[in-house]
This record gives sequence, structure tokens and C-alpha cells, in this order.
Amino acid sequence: VALNLKIIIGSTRETRSAEAVAPFVERVARAHGDFDVEVLDLRDWPLPLFQEHAGTILDISNPTYSEPIVKAWNDKIKEADAFIFVTPEYNYAIPGVLKNAIDNVFLSYGFRNKPVLPVAYSVGAVGGARAVLSLTSIALETEMHLLRMAVLIGNVGQAFEDGEPINPATRATLDVGLEDLAWWGSALKTARVNGQHLPGNARVQARLQPAAMR
Ligand SMILES: Cc1cc2nc3c(=O)[nH]c(=O)nc-3n(C[C@H](O)[C@H](O)[C@H](O)COP(=O)(O)O)c2cc1C
Repeated sequence: VALNLKIIIGSTRETRSAEAVAPFVERVARAHGDFDVEVLDLRDWPLPLFQEHAGTILDISNPTYSEPIVKAWNDKIKEADAFIFVTPEYNYAIPGVLKNAIDNVFLSYGFRNKPVLPVAYSVGAVGGARAVLSLTSIALETEMHLLRMAVLIGNVGQAFEDGEPINPATRATLDVGLEDLAWWGSALKTARVNGQHLPGNARVQARLQPAAMR
């Protein structure tokens, strides 16, 4: 059975360099064979700046959310078995629009126990390495499994010719990253199907309740 792979495009501005990177990533991911690929372009997901609270969630086991698009986004992320984040580096981090999209996956745990391959790029020589670094702390809290492998594309304006990366390491790294994504995607899917613990915070809170309320 194919793994459900979502490619999230983390830059939305006009003239974005993502236009050179994302089609290449999508094409190689589709050709890999292990994945059903869907591209989630954040231009098509104009999420509100995060605004959820108890009054918008209402039922924690089936949140309402502040706007229908937030619920649709949570449902969409939940479908996935694996992710690729195509992300530039803005001020040594991922763009706010991508962070906001991750924050909006709220109380549905859609990233939990699923692998993420970052494809990071920038005009600088180190190709988005610090954007990947900013994902490490986000990955800890969301319990996404950030892969060790990352595709880093430096000098992005000069990195592609006729849709292909000029540096052969870019394709090789993406191929290896997709192998790891498939392995982890399948291993973690099996583990999730066999049953997973509730998120840790909920379990700690449950232990702190008086016995009668457990
Ligand atoms: C707000 C902002 C911050 C940026 N910060 C960095 C940075 O920290 N390191 C870097 O190498 N490039 C940085 N850049 C340059 C980006 O790498 C470059 O603009 C790239 O094209 C952004 O991707 P995009 O065009 O798909 O949005 C920054 C660009 C913007 C707009």
C-alpha cells in the first residue's frame, strides 16, 4: 500500500524561489513509487494567524476550530503518513507562514509519529541549514520524526537549469532522503496502527487527577 506523502510548500510570496525547487521535488517524489503524493501549497491554504482557544475548540475530541479552513487543514495533515517541507530560510528559521501552518495543527496531533524530510534552500551558501535547525525544536514538541537527512540547496537562484539541479548532490540527497522517508513512513505507520500512547501531557495530567476522576 502506498504511503500518503504531503509536500508542504512553505513560502507564499510572489516571485518565490520555491517555484524552482518544489516542482523538482514533486517530480522525483512521484517517480519514487512508494508514495501517493499531494502538494499542499500554503498559497492555497490561507490559514488565519493562530487564534484557537477553548471557545473555538469546544469539543477536544472533535474540535470545531475558529474557521472551517483550520478544521480542513487539521484533517488534511492527519491523512498523511509522511511529509516533505520545502522551505526557505528566513532570518535563520523557517518562514512565519510555515510555522503558523504547523501551529494551526492543534490538538489533532497530525504530525505525531510521522517522518519529515526537509528540503531547505536559500540565497546563502549554506542552503537553509539554519531553517532545518529551527525545525528541530518544533519537531520535539509536535513529535514529528525529523529525518537526519536534509536536502540543502544553497545559492538557490543559480541552483537549477531547465528544472534540474546543477549540483548532483542535490538529486542524490533527495533520493536517499526519500528512501529514509519510505522506511520511516512505513515503520511508523505500522507502529501507529498497532496502537500509540496518548500524548504525554495528557497522560501526566491524568495521573495528577484524584483517583475518582480517572
Ligand atoms: C524575510 C527574509 C529573511 C531571509 N533570511 C535569510 C537567511 O537568514 N539566510 C539566507 O541564506 N537567506 C535569507 N533570505 C534570503 C532567502 O534565502 C531568499 O530570499 C529565498 O529566495 C527565499 O525563498 P522564497 O523566494 O521561496 O521565499 C531571507 C529572505 C527573506 C525574505
